[in-house]
Amino acid sequence: MDATRLCHANDVPDGAARGFDPQGTGQATVFVVRQGTQLRAWRDACPHHGTPLPWRRDAYLDAAGRHIVCAAHGALFDPLTGVCTLGPCLGDALTPVAIEVHSDGSLRLAP
Ligand code: FES
Repeated sequence: MDATRLCHANDVPDGAARGFDPQGTGQATVFVVRQGTQLRAWRDACPHHGTPLPWRRDAYLDAAGRHIVCAAHGALFDPLTGVCTLGPCLGDALTPVAIEVHSDGSLRLAP
């Protein structure tokens, strides 16, 4: 199995996010968010305390699907830039993870 393959790009719907565990650690370490045609991947670690963001699996976004939210202290992040726009780590940013969509539609970690 190819450890760099996360899913098919269509498996992350518009306004949704999904976590992945490409290193097989037992919990998501990377998540992918889609806004329209744009996909971004971020490390699943809040810049405030370094903890995973969601309170349950794949719950990375607020109810409106407009912001990434950290469950620990409520920080909000822009899904496309990763910058914290509200909360205790205001101005800090999530760590980007390089991804690419291959011709077969598979979404992969970039080498
Ligand atoms: S750990 Fe994320 S806001 Fe505090």
